[in-house]
Amino acid sequence: MAVQRIDHPLVQHKITLMRDKMTGPKEFRELVAETAMLMCYEATRDLPTKEIEIATPMGVAKSKIISGRKLAFVPILRAGLGMMDGLMTLVPAAKVGHIGLFRDTKSHEPVEYYVKLPEDIAERDVIVVDPMLATGHSAVQAIRILKQAGVANVKFMCIIASPEGIAAMQAAYPEVDIYCGAEDQGLNADAYIVPGMGDAGDRIFGTK
Ligand code: URA
Repeated sequence: MAVQRIDHPLVQHKITLMRDKMTGPKEFRELVAETAMLMCYEATRDLPTKEIEIATPMGVAKSKIISGRKLAFVPILRAGLGMMDGLMTLVPAAKVGHIGLFRDTKSHEPVEYYVKLPEDIAERDVIVVDPMLATGHSAVQAIRILKQAGVANVKFMCIIASPEGIAAMQAAYPEVDIYCGAEDQGLNADAYIVPGMGDAGDRIFGTK
């Protein structure tokens, strides 16, 4: 498995703005969507293409289109929803599945509360998205659900990852590529990423 850190200056600049605790929900939301779109550009770099002939106003061009398996995005609820505007702008034909997980207060393990996947999910390449890869438990569970649904090719995309989250993913699914904008120091006692950018869901939806 590869961890690919997207170090494009635009991505890094937007992450800095998102980290700022003074950034309000409107700007934060826009930054999450824009960053997701830029990161998606890298995460889809290996999509296969084929050459076709296309009539231009001036003649016939041999030009490439995306070929092969179709894409689906799967945001982990709720913060993953914040990334969807940017992703759907870039790949409007993609289908979208949703996986909702909450953390059991005693076991701290993720519990499924909502799963709705496209019927043809097993025929699609899937990119799971969540802005924060913290403990990795939710990401691992989401990928388990997708594998059980027959998905063969899955990637994971987050804006900020912790070393613990990356390690958990590597242990469970070494074949899954991780795309992240930054890898931070680690987790605090409440499993928040430090320095991170706080609770991404709360900041996207203004719930705090
Ligand atoms: N989820 C968040 O939104 N932020 C963190 O730091 C960790 C998990």
